[in-house]
Amino acid sequence: MNKLWGGRFQKPTAELVRQYHDSLPFDRRLYDQDITGSIAWAQGLVGAGVLTPAEADTIVDGLEEVRAEFARGTFAFAAGDEDIHTAVERRLTEIVGAVGGKLHTGRSRNDQVATDFRLWALGAIDQLRNYLAELQRALADSAAADLATPMPGYTHLQHAQPITWGHWALSHFWPLQRDQERWAQAQARTAVLPLGSAALAGTAFPVDRQALAETLGFTAVAPNSLDAVADRDFAADFLYAAALTGLHLSRLSEQLVLFSSAEFGFVAVDDAYATGSSIMPQKKNPDTLELTRGKSGRLIGNLVGLLTTLKGLPSTYDKDLQEDKEPVFDAFDTLALALPVMTGLIRTLKIRPERMAAQLEPGLLATDLADYLVKRGMPFRQAHHIVGSVVQLAEEKGVLLTDLTTADFQTVSEELGDGVTAVFDFTASLASRRMIGGTAPEALEAQLKTARQALSEE
Ligand code: ARG
Repeated sequence: MNKLWGGRFQKPTAELVRQYHDSLPFDRRLYDQDITGSIAWAQGLVGAGVLTPAEADTIVDGLEEVRAEFARGTFAFAAGDEDIHTAVERRLTEIVGAVGGKLHTGRSRNDQVATDFRLWALGAIDQLRNYLAELQRALADSAAADLATPMPGYTHLQHAQPITWGHWALSHFWPLQRDQERWAQAQARTAVLPLGSAALAGTAFPVDRQALAETLGFTAVAPNSLDAVADRDFAADFLYAAALTGLHLSRLSEQLVLFSSAEFGFVAVDDAYATGSSIMPQKKNPDTLELTRGKSGRLIGNLVGLLTTLKGLPSTYDKDLQEDKEPVFDAFDTLALALPVMTGLIRTLKIRPERMAAQLEPGLLATDLADYLVKRGMPFRQAHHIVGSVVQLAEEKGVLLTDLTTADFQTVSEELGDGVTAVFDFTASLASRRMIGGTAPEALEAQLKTARQALSEE
């Protein structure tokens, strides 16, 4: 028991305290990174003249045997294994004998854990970016399938102006593209090597840290050993990227919950992505979307939790830092499920153009009517006011804008002449917004192309 540091202690750790300290229940998932890091360190120790090549070979073979035990599921944890680093080293020494005890020369669990965790995060970000790209692809495909399908656009959840399904679907693509960039930036900042910093002051053995970085796939070496063992910015970056990705999924979900309601009926969630009610037989609940919306809460919580843990820490390593891994693992696990689930949901989502078309009422074209007056030379403010009066008149008469006669229009303004009825044309309204980012068919074709281009560069 307490093999790693028991020398100066006269009493064993209290059982409850041991449980309190043990990080093995969650850091065991770092076994692969821990072994990879240790192999690189063993090779570094050869370069530093600490290990002979033969000793390093023995250690590396032993570590590979430990890795194989984990992979086979036969690794047996022992009572004194307080974390994954302890467990791997203990088992290594059982396999290779006393030479295993040389591996930890010039190294501390402080630089070791930071290295393992960064290695893990680098791979995790790769995985999340792949999942994210799949969801982006599903949204782009949905946009392409109904690029020009008209629907009402909303501000304040009120009818605003006509848009298309393609326009709407792509509006949820771009936030995810920004997430891609954010994850890539987080990954770049993660690829800095702490190993060689030892406990805090650096290692006293001439290990080539640059070579270590290259072996392990890091792009830089942490320039300050004190900072290196305490720096968890990469974990916070991870959690911020996760929180924002979660927030984007939540907003997409919220909108689809609304769109799938009886009141909207713009979309139907596939049976495979919905669930029923235990009491109301008619119910088909969009609760996959609700769950995604809900999970954004824990993603944000993970970020806030870690930031709070880090806030007041004195330099350098403090045990508080052991609290870094669970929120990050949780964020990863959450997104590693949420993203593929959302991809499947979008891929199977049924779009109902007839329900969208049924909501295209002429009020959505009020801005076009104001634009008509502007094109005849009227200042926009005045045009806005006049159209407001037209809307009021239609409301008083209890009719749609399209039911007003030319005479009705003329009572509001002389400028509202014969051409006015031509304004009430949804296709023309959509087509007029051809600038970059607009809802016209050719602008949407161009946007879709840009989106696919961005994806192909991922
Ligand atoms: N389990 C620890 C962690 O996750 C490893 C580092 C422990 N270092 C120490 N000096 N107690 O942070």
